[in-house]
Amino acid sequence: MKRTLLTLCALLGLLSAAADEGMWLPSLISERIDDMRAKGFRLTAEDIYSINRASMKDAVVLFDGGCTGELVSAEGLLLTNHHCGYDAIQRHSTVEHDYLTYGFWARTRQEELPNKDLNVRFLVRMEEVTDRISAGETSAEIIRKAEAEAPGYRATVEQMYYGDQQFLFVYEQFDDVRLVAAPPSSIGKFGGDTDNWIWPRHTGDFSVFRIYASPDNKPAAYSPDNVPYRPKKFFTISTKGFREGDFTMIYGFPGNTQEYILSDAVDYVARLSDPAKIAIRDGRLEIITQAQESDPALRIHYAAKHAAIANAWKKWQGEVLGLTRMKTVETKRRQEETFARENSRGAELLDAMRAEYRRITTPYFAREITLETLRALPAKYTDEERAEAVFPARRETEERLFRWLFGEYARRCPAQYQIPEFLDGVAESGSPEAFADRVFEQVWAGGDAPLADSLRTGSKRMLDHITWLLGTDRLRNLTSKRLDGLYREYVHGLRQTWPERPFYPDANLTLRVAYGAIAGYEYADGEYHTPQTTLDGIIAKDNPEIYDYDIPQALRDLYAAKDYGRWGVVINGRRTVPVCFLASNHTTGGNSGSPVLNGRGELIGINFDRTWRSTMSDIAFDPSICRNIAVDIRYVLFVMDRIGGAKNLIKEMNIK
Ligand code: ARG
Ligand code: ASP
Repeated sequence: MKRTLLTLCALLGLLSAAADEGMWLPSLISERIDDMRAKGFRLTAEDIYSINRASMKDAVVLFDGGCTGELVSAEGLLLTNHHCGYDAIQRHSTVEHDYLTYGFWARTRQEELPNKDLNVRFLVRMEEVTDRISAGETSAEIIRKAEAEAPGYRATVEQMYYGDQQFLFVYEQFDDVRLVAAPPSSIGKFGGDTDNWIWPRHTGDFSVFRIYASPDNKPAAYSPDNVPYRPKKFFTISTKGFREGDFTMIYGFPGNTQEYILSDAVDYVARLSDPAKIAIRDGRLEIITQAQESDPALRIHYAAKHAAIANAWKKWQGEVLGLTRMKTVETKRRQEETFARENSRGAELLDAMRAEYRRITTPYFAREITLETLRALPAKYTDEERAEAVFPARRETEERLFRWLFGEYARRCPAQYQIPEFLDGVAESGSPEAFADRVFEQVWAGGDAPLADSLRTGSKRMLDHITWLLGTDRLRNLTSKRLDGLYREYVHGLRQTWPERPFYPDANLTLRVAYGAIAGYEYADGEYHTPQTTLDGIIAKDNPEIYDYDIPQALRDLYAAKDYGRWGVVINGRRTVPVCFLASNHTTGGNSGSPVLNGRGELIGINFDRTWRSTMSDIAFDPSICRNIAVDIRYVLFVMDRIGGAKNLIKEMNIK
């Protein structure tokens, strides 16, 4: 008896959501509000989410379907990250008007630039519809009814806890969103891929947009007659500063986490999937980096590609390191043993889940490898690409990429899932690399490329087959239709068995609240990383020879003259400008651009990253090292004012 009690206590300690873990549903935030207030939050649950009056949710948007943004003026002004606005900035950039390099500052409303295919969504309301669905209503019907309520409404039904609960989310979508300002990339992307996922950080990762609406303030397609949207709520900005330990809250749209998966799935991620994908990308990055170092035209050409490949590559490395260091597989195994003892159906359920994992792991792995190799290669080069001056110079690099990825597919894709078209080609040619050369030859030449076409069709057929095996196309993670059903019971069981543990549903790109504090962390034995960086750190990194660290001359001049105006503050006895800060909020991809708020609900920063060693927080959160990274709002304002000369924007916002 005593031993069970002890293990139970130990386990509760293990399971109880640690200090700053959690991504909470705003409509249920009253369940957390006491804890939030104890940690320094000064407002109420109704201030965060209300359907009766304006609340903070009315100042937060899902930006471009994958990032977050926040309203900062009564006239629809919106802040998000530079990397979230990157596409829009790039599309407006030409050689004559290179906004990516030099930045963009609209001086008047007329100069604000419309963007095709860019929208934002406000959450109108969310409500649980589990009962309606059990009573026989379909999600499609529920969605149709909600969307019929008003023009511009979009609705989704999302599963929480693997479908144990279903929620309707009703959004108001605005399609006229214009670019207002962007800093030069040497500020907005300062540190580039070298500093990505790294602390100390000095990136001014922000851009500015404005939402436009019809004259009656309703969603409308782009029209010159549209007017700035008048939001129900916008954030006041605080330049008063903060100290380590101060309360922070993040309100945004985290994309995907899997905190409740079995040890088997963690083992798959840490020992099989991540290492394989990292190794495949090692090779791709090496080939691309060599090209970039050999030729400035290639450096530019491959910049976006390199950034995209390197972003997940670095994330996965942190994830493996974190899961290994935390011994997440072992910890989860122990939890599962206890669950099997404590829950009457536990053992049976876990057996069924393990059996399903054994059935699906190999095909799912084959799917991941296929996507990372064969499907990552172009089936053809478009006419636009061929017309680019840089095209001939790409030949060797592209050919090497074909060879590398064909070789990796042959080595890593489980044999029974390699497509016959590939196996035949390799047999005929003698090796995957020799076959790659033949396929590449056709693709490079343009016109018909029957070999590439047959690989395309074959791999598509195989991916469809695997989807069929898994019974679901919701394939962001290792899962299947059957597993989802089993997880519904499992997570339900966990919540029943440990009612005192605070459970939060996995991230699924729905609006969430995370809260924590401004916090540094122990990076290594005896090496504490403080949570604030400053302009002095930018100057220390400044190097005109290195692309990622070559800051605008204007910033050097401001530093030399110490001309910081009202944005200057004294930190550690030195007058400087704050640049980025660290906090302990639980965030993930999609939280980029999220408002970081203080205890009074005022904007103090814009979230844009985590430290790479935090990234296992998508599976297991460790409060001692998991940190999110934000750009300090005072740096954003300093850049707007002193680099952009955007007095118009400074005047428009409510700055305290
Ligand atoms: N790591 C951040 C995120 O996952 C920022 C990525 C953009 N920056 C870059 N240097 N690639 O989105
Ligand atoms: N950089 C990520 C994003 O773009 C945020 C993160 O993964 O922490 O959403």
